[in-house]
Amino acid sequence: MLVSATEMLKKAKAGHYAVGQFNINNLEWTKAVLLTAQEQNSPVILGVSEGAGKYMTGFKTVAAMVKAMIEELNITVPVALHLDHGTYEGCKKCVEAGFSSIMFDGSSLGIDENVEKTKELVALSHENNMSIEAEVGSIGGEEDGVVGMGECADPQECKKIADLGVDMLAAGIGNIHGKYPANWAGLSFETLDSIQQLTGEMPLVLHGGTGIPDDMIKKAISLGVAKINVNTECQLSFADATRKYIEAGNDLQGKGFDPRKLLAPGFEAIKATVKEKMELFGSVGKA
Ligand code: 13P
Repeated sequence: MLVSATEMLKKAKAGHYAVGQFNINNLEWTKAVLLTAQEQNSPVILGVSEGAGKYMTGFKTVAAMVKAMIEELNITVPVALHLDHGTYEGCKKCVEAGFSSIMFDGSSLGIDENVEKTKELVALSHENNMSIEAEVGSIGGEEDGVVGMGECADPQECKKIADLGVDMLAAGIGNIHGKYPANWAGLSFETLDSIQQLTGEMPLVLHGGTGIPDDMIKKAISLGVAKINVNTECQLSFADATRKYIEAGNDLQGKGFDPRKLLAPGFEAIKATVKEKMELFGSVGKA
């Protein structure tokens, strides 16, 4: 069932668990995430970056594929199709294409321009029964070409953006996209705590879910995080399983080169990663 992320995140925040956003790249990725969500009876958010949207030939293709797959696979758990780190133009395109949720990443703009554009997109998304995520303070590292310095968000600015009526708020708290460096200082729970105190019921979003230790994930959830984004970890599991298949020479045995066989171990590896994250985030059985 394709829905906006609003209700699932309200429920998650009230129930002290988080819904996973898993970024998708192609048909295998989408199918793996949807089937795992159904098997685990968990709500789920499919994240699509602008780069991944382009790779899949455009947002319309993605929306059509996801809607058809939900129907053909009889997926009954709540699924949101969400633009990840969208530009202003990208957000508008996803509204037209039939996504159910968008993220406007105005973190590189000054706070006034971020407020102005977010406000406009809140109205547009809500008119279309979609949810909207905004960002304050940048997430470090690179997400599909979007580079952030990783500074912690200012809680007062978070309140300003939250008051615009967004449905979820991503705030930089020392989190980084991709693998964490060995000298990473960890998440700033002090910042997270101040943000949650000022933004109250607002579901908070933790980007850069790959490689954050389990105890930090749990603490972040206890301080109001209700959505956690995971991308790199599924890519690493897929690549690792595919490499093992090829290094074992399986593609050279019989019809092992058949793409349905060649991509199967990577597909199963994505499923295993998604299941593990859903268990950690506490969303299993919460559909
Ligand atoms: P990772 O690639 O670090 O898991 O981050 C994903 C993310 O935050 C997508 O917005």
